[in-house]
Amino acid sequence: MADLRTAVGGLELDHPLVLASGPLSWNGEAIVRAYCAGASAVVTKTISRRAATQPVPHLVRVGGGVLNAERWSDLDSAQWIKREIPLAKDAGVPVIASVGLEPADVEALAAALEEAGADALEVVSYDEATLPGLVDAAVRRVRIPVFAKLSANGRDLVGTARACVERGTSALTVIDSVGPALRIDPRTRRPLLGATAGWLSGPAILPIALHAVAAVRQAVAVPVIGTGGVEDADTAVEMLLAGACAVGICSGALVHGLDLFRRLRGDLSDRLDEFGLTSIEDAVGAARWEEARGVRMGFDEVACIHCEACVRVCPYQARRSPADVGEACRECGLCVSVCPAGALVWEGRG
Ligand SMILES: Cc1cc2nc3c(=O)[nH]c(=O)nc-3n(C[C@H](O)[C@H](O)[C@H](O)COP(=O)(O)O)c2cc1C
Repeated sequence: MADLRTAVGGLELDHPLVLASGPLSWNGEAIVRAYCAGASAVVTKTISRRAATQPVPHLVRVGGGVLNAERWSDLDSAQWIKREIPLAKDAGVPVIASVGLEPADVEALAAALEEAGADALEVVSYDEATLPGLVDAAVRRVRIPVFAKLSANGRDLVGTARACVERGTSALTVIDSVGPALRIDPRTRRPLLGATAGWLSGPAILPIALHAVAAVRQAVAVPVIGTGGVEDADTAVEMLLAGACAVGICSGALVHGLDLFRRLRGDLSDRLDEFGLTSIEDAVGAARWEEARGVRMGFDEVACIHCEACVRVCPYQARRSPADVGEACRECGLCVSVCPAGALVWEGRG
């Protein structure tokens, strides 16, 4: 059975599945609930000097995931320090306290969050230019590890990662929700959220998150908590292969329930075994980036169910039948990806 233990910037975790900052870690009891449901550590909702007020509504399920206009925590920072974090720590939860959004917030709160029992801080900002300054403010004030949360919404993900590492971050969480984004209810003609700008998360952002994790991992040497779109064991493995040594999950647990953590832990172990990976360490960054040579499309006549999906999707009208491809075929691969029977396959990519 694969060894699921992992370490992130000084935190030893039983397994890599961490509850990312969001509504499911809104207070102490919620944090304990997530831990009991199987998360290996919990990132609190972002704590700031001023409690937020939330637009109504601010969370809606959409195709591909979740759209939200939820701001930082609507609890007072003093309440987090006096009650919520100590409550979670009394229950033995590894707690990563998310703090932002300006340097003054980190200056005011970092030491008190450490004193309240947080095992690490995660600094976060809506403006990537200010993030390295937040890391700086935190590392000057605490002894616990400081993580920085990167967003793919800015212009310079890798440059920001490097600047945060130079300032002393022990790990990077990659990525935040993606946006701004918008959906409109055609009946009421109003935005689905009580705000014009929302942020997208869940499966729709997985490819963005994977690319960001791989880019950051290749540029800097600190551990990465890969976050964005993971909701099953295969996508968790993808995140590890891209270079993450832990996997943050928010939307998956929102939509499918906190039980996801326990299910995923078992499934992840099975999948790693199946793929011949004996530990998390084995999987981290193990994606093969070299170009495969001699790749060609193969057709398995016995497996074909003649649904004609491959014929319908061909953009070049090159596929006349599952078995018959004309010269216009560019081997783009769309037909292979829609074949429900595995009759169209790539040969030479193993
Ligand atoms: C409703 C909601 C609220 C969130 N609030 C926070 C927050 O307070 N601080 C933060 O750093 N990230 C916050 N996030 C971002 C998540 O932590 C995570 O980075 C993002 O949603 C991508 O992961 P996912 O696809 O698993 O949800 C929030 C996400 C959602 C959906």
